[in-house]
Amino acid sequence: MRAIIGLMAILMVACVSNNETNNTKEKMSQYADDPHSFSEPNEVAMKHLSLDLNVDFENRQLTGEATYELERNSGNRIILDLDDIEILSVTDKEGEKLEYKVVEGNEMGDALHINLNDNTEKITVSYQTSSNASALLWLEPEQTLSKTDPFLFTQGQAILTRSWVPIQDTPSLRITYDARISVPQGLLAVMSATNPQDLNEESVYTFKMEQPIPPYLMALAVGKLEFASLGNRSGVYAEPAILKEAAYEFADVEKMIDVAEDLYGPYRWERYDILVLPPSFPFGGMENPRLTFATPTIIAGDRSLTSLIAHELAHSWSGNLVTNATWNDFWLNEGFTVYFEKRIMEAIYGKDYAEMLNELGQQDLMHTIEELGKNSADTKLKLDLDERNPDDGMTDIAYEKGYLFLRSLEETVGRERFDKFLRNYFDENAFKTMTTEEFIGYLDKNLLAELDKKPDINAWIYEAGIPADYPQPESSLFDKVDSVRLAWQSGEVSAQELSVADWSTHEWLHFLRGIKDLSTDKMTELDAAFNFTTSGNSEIAAKWFELAIQNDYDTAYSKMEEFLIRVGRRKFLKPLYTELAKTPEDLKWAKRVYKKARPNYHSVSTETIDKILGWSS
Ligand code: BES
Ligand code: ZN
Repeated sequence: MRAIIGLMAILMVACVSNNETNNTKEKMSQYADDPHSFSEPNEVAMKHLSLDLNVDFENRQLTGEATYELERNSGNRIILDLDDIEILSVTDKEGEKLEYKVVEGNEMGDALHINLNDNTEKITVSYQTSSNASALLWLEPEQTLSKTDPFLFTQGQAILTRSWVPIQDTPSLRITYDARISVPQGLLAVMSATNPQDLNEESVYTFKMEQPIPPYLMALAVGKLEFASLGNRSGVYAEPAILKEAAYEFADVEKMIDVAEDLYGPYRWERYDILVLPPSFPFGGMENPRLTFATPTIIAGDRSLTSLIAHELAHSWSGNLVTNATWNDFWLNEGFTVYFEKRIMEAIYGKDYAEMLNELGQQDLMHTIEELGKNSADTKLKLDLDERNPDDGMTDIAYEKGYLFLRSLEETVGRERFDKFLRNYFDENAFKTMTTEEFIGYLDKNLLAELDKKPDINAWIYEAGIPADYPQPESSLFDKVDSVRLAWQSGEVSAQELSVADWSTHEWLHFLRGIKDLSTDKMTELDAAFNFTTSGNSEIAAKWFELAIQNDYDTAYSKMEEFLIRVGRRKFLKPLYTELAKTPEDLKWAKRVYKKARPNYHSVSTETIDKILGWSS
């Protein structure tokens, strides 16, 4: 009898645990496996984060507390990612200490294991960041425009947030957050959240992000900042010396928001502001929700580089609303965003204008494919970045091949149907994450199902290179540029006589991209006619400096040195240092300049340039 009862007990237990496994399995699928995070949100996930931080410029340190509200799925442990952060204590809601340990990981970070009690729903981690935190760039007053105050900014994407907040640093999960940030008197703090527009007496600023976002979109900047309104729901923050220029440059932002909404549905983040950073910002722009971070190098004085704003704004749908589940699905963020960006530009500035941007993008794509090799796995849309730093695989492929793929879908089904499809895609998947495979399922069901002849989706997504029948942007304005260039290069007309009066930045870029080998005389002639060496347009200057290196045009080197020391935008730095590294003499020059410039660069840029120059610090 006892044996029978015993057996029944075992069977019952087996039954219960079987059910449990089934339930857990269902929940397991809630968050995608992410090779770039140690966290295991399918066991315990953070839901809401409250930050309370002090910004200490002297020690280049953030210190304070992060409090997490938890979703308990299974187990008694939460794992947070962290990189170079010192943990001071971990407590529960009652202030009772919780056991924790830091488990050493790899160059992408470590794991903080925290043991929870059965009923722990909230935990507080007190910590301080390292002065080398990879997300943070601490600037001395001399490195800002005002020269009077220091500046701090964060860059979270792809996996850097873990260096300033211990966090489950995976895009497969979303949190809401609030923050309280104490800064030195006279400085303003802004975040990817509700923002202050004025200084306050206490120098303590509070923030709220009520829409759930992935952790890579947490962002903070502190500096001598002022605000200017651009419209009902948009504005710009910048250092006072550049605020007016910034407001002029971004005057069309409100129009861009309206056009974007007309295309793909309501803007869900209430306000859209832009923060102009010091020139050391490593990117052109970063789509931090409610507050795009932007390089000042797009302020050209003639509004010619603002497609970058259309791009970051478009991320408010593609990326911030529907988010790539892992960095292997990065093209879902960037390819969709480039497509959307181009549609915004076309709606406001017309097809001829947009087609110039498209052709430049295609040139970038071809260049990248050539660089990587057309059989390289990194030319696939769906990436395999496991065991690698995701940053290494984030190339123009996601952007420009992604764009061409969506454009080919548009051409297959017609614009009207494609727009309806995209609008529904953003609506139905709002505030969710998306894997490439989920997208393919959605596409099959909602767009391709009725087609007789189906496009070769597999080739676009899972194969290297680009399918032979890819759409080819063609700009008639660029055709004119080609003939002007030809006339000059063949000696038919002098540089002075070229008819370039109505050219935009894009025509100039196309002109310069079409030039290869030039004699010093020809370089001098161009420079005398168009002052490229002293150009205030960063895109034109950067391209010109590349030509100067290739053609030994020494006259440009001192301006190039100034540029390399002032500007930290990786897109400009990478080709210049790469070109310089090709001859021993230029390499020596580059190393001398880099030594001075490096303290002004963010880790995103130094990681790349250190490798190019063989630099060890
Ligand atoms: N989200 C990216 C920047 C990024 C990508 C940061 C990968 C970290 C990892 C941003 O939206 C972007 O694409 N910026 C581009 C500009 C754009 C117009 C192509 C840039 O900074 O050049
Ligand atoms: Zn982008």
